[in-house]
Amino acid sequence: MHLELTEEQTMMRDTCRSFAREELLPKAAEIDERGEFPKEQVQRMAEIGLMGVAVSADYEGAGMDNVSYALAMEEISAGCASCGVIMSVNNSLVCDPIAKFGSAEQKKQWLPDLASGRKLGCFALSEPGTGSDAAAQTTVAVKDGHEWVINGSKNFITNGNDADMCIVFAMGDKSKGVKGINAYLVPADTKGYSVAKNEKKLGIKGSSTSQINLDDVRLPASAMLGTEGLGFKVAMTTLDGGRIGIAAQALGIARQALEEARDYSLERQAFGGPISDLQAIQFMLADMAIEVDAARLLIWRAAALKDKGARFTTESAMAKLYASEMSNRVTNKALQIFGGYGYCKDYPAERHLRDARITEIYEGTSEVQRLVIARSVLTGGR
Ligand code: CAA
Repeated sequence: MHLELTEEQTMMRDTCRSFAREELLPKAAEIDERGEFPKEQVQRMAEIGLMGVAVSADYEGAGMDNVSYALAMEEISAGCASCGVIMSVNNSLVCDPIAKFGSAEQKKQWLPDLASGRKLGCFALSEPGTGSDAAAQTTVAVKDGHEWVINGSKNFITNGNDADMCIVFAMGDKSKGVKGINAYLVPADTKGYSVAKNEKKLGIKGSSTSQINLDDVRLPASAMLGTEGLGFKVAMTTLDGGRIGIAAQALGIARQALEEARDYSLERQAFGGPISDLQAIQFMLADMAIEVDAARLLIWRAAALKDKGARFTTESAMAKLYASEMSNRVTNKALQIFGGYGYCKDYPAERHLRDARITEIYEGTSEVQRLVIARSVLTGGR
């Protein structure tokens, strides 16, 4: 068993680490404060190949593996969690399904622009009434000759306000249940497609989270991603990969919080010395370090399985569940080490805690991950 990174993976990690420390970290508080899309930073991320890490170079992607992608996500999210999720959605939820399920024409049409960062994508599965129960889609797609007409409303769509295109899921044949769901590639300037609302959030404030309305959105048959009825499978397979990205985002946030808490503990004086001399603080740092490492190992395993072409549904659910809950525990302890200062905005501890919170919710709540894992346990999958 090899746990060493390849030369290419190490290079990816180191490049992203320097970039995040030099260009993202110094801006992260401002991005959070302003709550605006970090255009300049995303542009820089695109220049270093981060908007299509695992997309083939034939389509202007970086052509790297999924372990590299997870490494990049950890580093970028350590610098700026909002930049992390913007990158994750474009890579995992948009480029990935187009590369996997798209026709040659669709790949040619979308991948170069998305992977190079000239365009940004979003993924519209959730609806006001169907979050965890993704199979209960109420957005409808009706066939009209050679076209599809879509009507409905999607919510909590990351990148929604800033995206140039969207992967939309809709029910094409209700009588077939989950096998009646279709996926479509929808340019954001299509008539009837509109951003109805942008949410005000607790954290990851630099990324948009929007409601999207679809009013008689008319699409050619060629806009369908995959075949008729394959939409739910497209969504679930895509989320398997997406969960690795969000797990790595949670990991990056936690690692940054741990490092800052460690540095602070070495400086902060109390009871006649730095608080790092106190066992109470040392034990917290030790527990945080174990959890950060354990999450990383789960993430690497899921990413390595994806690279091998093996099924990794359970492993990515485990990685996402553990990393997101770990990130909440670790950022909470980090804030505790900062004490009263941690509760104030002069230090980034409170931002890390706010940014970590969403990782337990989006791309499948902790409860959904437990469901996926339990099903695997109960059916003898492990
Ligand atoms: N890969 C491939 N196929 C899968 C699959 C997977 N991981 N999971 C399920 N399927 C298939 C099943 O095999 C089944 O097909 P067959 O009948 O042919 O076998 C079909 O899909 C239905 O599966 P289930 O019976 O398991 O479906 P379910 O209705 O019980 O739902 C669920 C399962 C796990 C709860 C699912 O609904 C789910 O994952 N919900 C959470 C949705 C989610 O993560 N939303 C996030 C939105 S995106 C987002 O958050 C982006 C962002 O902002 C950053």
